[in-house]
Amino acid sequence: NTVFADDIEEIIISEEKLKTRIRELGEEITAAYNEDDDIVMLCILRGAVLFMADLAREIDLPVVFDFMDVSSYGASTESSGVVRIIKDMEENIEDRHLLIVEDIIDTGRTLKHVVDMLHTRSPKSIKIVTLLDKPERRVQKELEADFNGFEIPDKFVVGYGLDFAEKYRNLSFIGVLKEKMYS
Ligand code: PRP
Ligand code: MN
Ligand code: MG
Repeated sequence: NTVFADDIEEIIISEEKLKTRIRELGEEITAAYNEDDDIVMLCILRGAVLFMADLAREIDLPVVFDFMDVSSYGASTESSGVVRIIKDMEENIEDRHLLIVEDIIDTGRTLKHVVDMLHTRSPKSIKIVTLLDKPERRVQKELEADFNGFEIPDKFVVGYGLDFAEKYRNLSFIGVLKEKMYS
């Protein structure tokens, strides 16, 4: 899609590269579990929705889908630090393997909040897969993904699920947003 072409400074991860890396992540995840494990894949809405859909098809294990809507940014490029649970997950995760699927770990505040909360529900394990990681920005230093697609520099990126003020999620690549779009 080209409708947003004028708003994008640079494509940092092409559609092709996403596809290749997501296939590898699927293989890594498949190898990390047993076939008879009871796995709940939890998509953190809304950013992780495209990644969840593509990643799930590269995982060669039976998985259950669930969704949680969490928001920390609103219409800003900075994480507010206030994490709101808008919609909780539906599955009971007690004694089951939980695989949390995120599009990006930036400050780590969103996931820290989610992981701390879900720990209290006694899952058998919690693993995190993130498509993108911005380690330079981390506030929650101890927060690391178990599976990580790409480490990226501290630039505001959109596309493939990631938005700015709810726009650009349907780009098929990850791009850097032109500064004039948000300043
Ligand atoms: C974005 C992104 C991650 C989170 C990362 O979500 O999708 O969930 O922020 O930031 P953090 O590591 O600094 O917490 P957002 O709150 O914008 O909601 P969205 O997924 O609906 O866009
Ligand atoms: Mn999100
Ligand atoms: Mg957002």
